[in-house]
Amino acid sequence: MCGIVGYIGTKPAQQLLVEGLKRLEYRGYDSAGIAVIGQSGLSITRAVGRVQSLEDKLEETGSLEGTLGLAHTRWATHGTVTQANAHPQRDDTSGICLVHNGIIENYAAIKTYLEEKGHQFSSETDTEVLAMLIGELYEGDLESAVQAALREVTGAYAIVVVCEQEPDVMIAARKGSPLMIGIGSGEYIVASDPSAIVAHTTQAFPLENYNVVKLTRDHIRTSTIENIEVTPRIMQLEMDLGQIELGDYDHFMLKEIFEQPSALSNTFRGRLDKKSGKVVLGGLDEFAKQLVKAKRVIITAQGTAMHAAMIGEYLLEDLAKVPTECEYASEFRYRNPIIEDGTMVVAVSQSGETADTLAALEEAKDRGALSLGVINVVGSTIARETDAGVYLRVGPEIGVASTKAFTGQVAVLTLISLFMARRRFMSAEESSALLKQLELVPDKIERVLETADTIRTLTEKYVHRENWLFLGRGYNYPTAMEGALKLKEISYIHAEGMPAAEMKHGPIALIDKGMPVVFIANRGAQYEKVMINIEEVRSRGGHVIAVATEGDTQIKSIAEDVMYVPDVPEALSPMVTVIPLQLMAYHAAVLRGKDVDKPRNLAKSVTVE
Ligand code: F6R
Repeated sequence: MCGIVGYIGTKPAQQLLVEGLKRLEYRGYDSAGIAVIGQSGLSITRAVGRVQSLEDKLEETGSLEGTLGLAHTRWATHGTVTQANAHPQRDDTSGICLVHNGIIENYAAIKTYLEEKGHQFSSETDTEVLAMLIGELYEGDLESAVQAALREVTGAYAIVVVCEQEPDVMIAARKGSPLMIGIGSGEYIVASDPSAIVAHTTQAFPLENYNVVKLTRDHIRTSTIENIEVTPRIMQLEMDLGQIELGDYDHFMLKEIFEQPSALSNTFRGRLDKKSGKVVLGGLDEFAKQLVKAKRVIITAQGTAMHAAMIGEYLLEDLAKVPTECEYASEFRYRNPIIEDGTMVVAVSQSGETADTLAALEEAKDRGALSLGVINVVGSTIARETDAGVYLRVGPEIGVASTKAFTGQVAVLTLISLFMARRRFMSAEESSALLKQLELVPDKIERVLETADTIRTLTEKYVHRENWLFLGRGYNYPTAMEGALKLKEISYIHAEGMPAAEMKHGPIALIDKGMPVVFIANRGAQYEKVMINIEEVRSRGGHVIAVATEGDTQIKSIAEDVMYVPDVPEALSPMVTVIPLQLMAYHAAVLRGKDVDKPRNLAKSVTVE
């Protein structure tokens, strides 16, 4: 949510910063801006709209010369989408200029204080308030002024700050919102995530909460906001450029849907010991005893990750026989939750930065729970905050609509369930059989992907309809929820997902002639019950689109359209049944002319409450 990039070195900053912004654009895209300090001082250019609008403006107004600068792509929190509210923001006295990701919660009180001191504001943003505060406290040393200002603010921030009076210094700081410092030779690149860094260097470190870094071309100093010096933990970024480029695909979402077979093979690599029926998860070894003894599991997440968590609830109860519940992180954190001895909390998050999920995790830890992370982004805040965890290993997800992270999350929750199950009640035979089936999942996904053109043709028939239902039972009730979310978030079609039987308790009133109703109707324990629900929809004129198991001919006679998937054990089926739903959502959005990778009002990685 909001992309930040900063550069200090010897190369012209503008091009590098704009390239960085393009990589970070998926984090927010309502306006963009850049500031560079050069021979002629500080120059700022801002534009409403995408990074392309900023580039167009720079073309018109001329390049910004200089080898130090910062840039921002915005997802609005305070203030409407206008040029005045775009970042960078600057103060009115000291030549302070900053970009910010997060929310300064006490900005109103600080603004009143600064207004009383005579400062004039020209935007509605909390960011301008922070710039003014730093300017107010500035006495010739930018680092101290930033530290002093940050001691006064509450809320979340990742900031990069420069000052016209110190043209060879760049300061960055964070609390809550992520920030990575890339270390090149004679240059530093600061960015919200590694995608804007890897083209320049693979040496980097994530800035810790309440830490401030001072960068000059040949020196780096990291301290706390209390000015206590700290030593950062430098790591090697493993991302390669190919992973974050579109290649031959039209959209990142499509690329990521098609990457799922290889992504899941990666998730499983070296983790399935089919002989002993054991799952090998190095990250959990140290806590194996506690996992085996766990009395209760709470899985917490938001959005798509929550749907994966809901499948995790079925898996953990079904396979590992441990009482499990799922809770939206945003609710859990404010609910005064009861955490008894033996409770384990699992935070599921692609980005590892979702503000609510992080806060729920902190709440659970404060109350004494053992915490696990199911995270994609290595070294992200949640990954670092949890006691232990398992990475998804599905590679960077750029499309705002999550696809490969969803199947990766379900895959890892399956692994954790089997890790516990085999050490609790499950026999080696039963576990081995499931592991063998698990290993086949990537190939089965591949087979569904081969039907992408058929799914596009099918979607064309229904794409003009404005209301859809997605229904499923058991393991595939969350899959139905995920299908509905995918469709609504990128094509803006209204869709609801729910347990198939719940339809009769109200939503059935919505069904009119021709309404598309998508059933996840693969073979499983509740297949016959789903058939009954399908008949109920048909008799009210709804058009049934079924996701069914290959070879099921019965369903053809009652559904208008069928999307076939290979046979998979029910516990593993969501990783396969979700694929046609992802493809359908993708094609619906493309057919309706929507911007698939940058849906309106959304941004990847929700780092504010
Ligand atoms: C939907 C989507 C979001 C995220 C949610 C949690 O396609 O991507 O619903 O799943 O914002 O994000 P993470 O997994 O990064 O915590």
